[in-house]
Amino acid sequence: MNTLITNIGELVTNDEQPGREGGLLGIVRDAAVLVEHGVVTWVGPSADAAAQVPASGAEIVDVGGRAVIPGFVDSHTHLVFGGDRAEEFAARMAGRRYEAGGIRSTVAATRAATDDELRARLAGFVAELHAQGTTTFEIKSGYGLSVADEERLVRLAREVTPEVTFLGAHVVPFEFREDPRFDGDPVAAGDAYVEVVVGEMLDACAPHSRWVDAFCERGAFTPAQSRRVLEAGRAAGLGVRVHGNQLGEGEGVRLAVELGAASVDHCTFLSDADVTALASSDTVATLLPGVEFSTRQPYPDARRLIDAGVTVALASDCNPGSSFTSSMPFCIAVAVRDMGMTPAEAVWASTAGGALALRRDDVGALRPGLRGDLAVLDAPSHVHLAYRPGVPLIASTWAGGARVA
Ligand code: NIG
Ligand code: FE
Repeated sequence: MNTLITNIGELVTNDEQPGREGGLLGIVRDAAVLVEHGVVTWVGPSADAAAQVPASGAEIVDVGGRAVIPGFVDSHTHLVFGGDRAEEFAARMAGRRYEAGGIRSTVAATRAATDDELRARLAGFVAELHAQGTTTFEIKSGYGLSVADEERLVRLAREVTPEVTFLGAHVVPFEFREDPRFDGDPVAAGDAYVEVVVGEMLDACAPHSRWVDAFCERGAFTPAQSRRVLEAGRAAGLGVRVHGNQLGEGEGVRLAVELGAASVDHCTFLSDADVTALASSDTVATLLPGVEFSTRQPYPDARRLIDAGVTVALASDCNPGSSFTSSMPFCIAVAVRDMGMTPAEAVWASTAGGALALRRDDVGALRPGLRGDLAVLDAPSHVHLAYRPGVPLIASTWAGGARVA
C-alpha cells in the first residue's frame, strides 16, 4: 500500500539541507511525504504532491496543516515484567531514596507470570507506545535473572521488536545474594552469578538478542564484572550498551567508550574525563529524564554534553521501578525544562539520536530510502511537544506507511 501524507504545515525531516530551516531538524514548510511499500520515496512541497499520486496510486492523507515528525525511536525500555511498584514510588515521593535493589521485587513478580500474561502486557505497552508516536523501540530483559527466565524474556521481547537487549547483569538475584557459600559478600555472590550470565544464560539468550547490557553501578555490578559480561556478549556477536553513572560517578562511561558501546545510558553523574571520553567516541549518551523525575534525583546536564560535542539521545527507560512512563513527549518536555535542551535538540535526540544509539540508519529521519515511520502532531510545530506538557498531541502514528495509532 502507498500513502501520500500531504498538507503538512511543518515537516521535521532530520535531513539538513540548504534552504531548509531548523538546522539538524531540516524543516520543510507546506510539505508532503510519499511512502511506497513501507519506504519513503519522495519528500517535497505539498504543491508538487499531486504529481506524485498518479504514478504511485497512493491513498491521500490530508493532515490539515499539522506538524509531522519522524516516529520516536525509544532506545531504552524494560517492558517485559510482571507486577507493579506503585507503593515503592509512593514511598519515594514521601522521602525514601531510590536503590537498585527494588529490581528484585519485580524479578519475583516476573518469574511468577506466565508467558501469556507477559505477552498480553507487552501488547498493551506496544499500543501505548504507538499512541504516543513511538515507532521503534528497544526492550531489555533483566527481570528474569535465571537461565530459563531470561531466555523467555528475550524470546517474548523478540516477538514485538528486533531491538532486544540481554540484561542478565541487571542485579545479582536473591538466590545468589542469600547463598550461605558467599557469607554475605556481595562481590563474591556477584562473581558467581556472572559466571552463569556469561555461560549458560548468554548461550540461551544470544539467539534472540541484538545487544548485551550491564548495570555498572554500586549495588549492581562492579566494573570488572560488567566488563566480563560485556566482553562475553560481544564475543557472542552482540552489540554493547551500558547502564552507567546513574546513582553516582563511576566507571560505566569509560568502560562503554573503551568497549565501543553504541550507547551508555543514564549519564547523570559525569566527571570532566567522562565527558571528554564521550566526545571523542562513537558512543551515544542516552539520557532518561523519566528516571530523575520518578526517583527525584538531579537531572543529567544535557547542555554540558551537547556543548562538548557528545551525541545525545533521549529515551523513556520505561520500567516499573525507576521510570514508569512510555511517553517520549513527556521526556522531551522534561529535557527542555530541566536539562538545558532546546525543543529542537530534544526532538532530534528522541528520533535521530535514538536511531544512532541503536546504530540504525533506516529510522529516525524522513528522507527517501528510510522507513515511512512518522507521527502527525495535533499542533502546528514540534515546539509544542515541550510547550504543551502532558497534552496528548499525537494525532496519528504511521509505521512503514501504515497507520498504527
Ligand atoms: O534503567 N538502572 C537499572 N535498571 C533500571 C531500573 C529498574 C528498576 O528499578 O526496576 C533503570 O533505571
Ligand atoms: Fe534501564
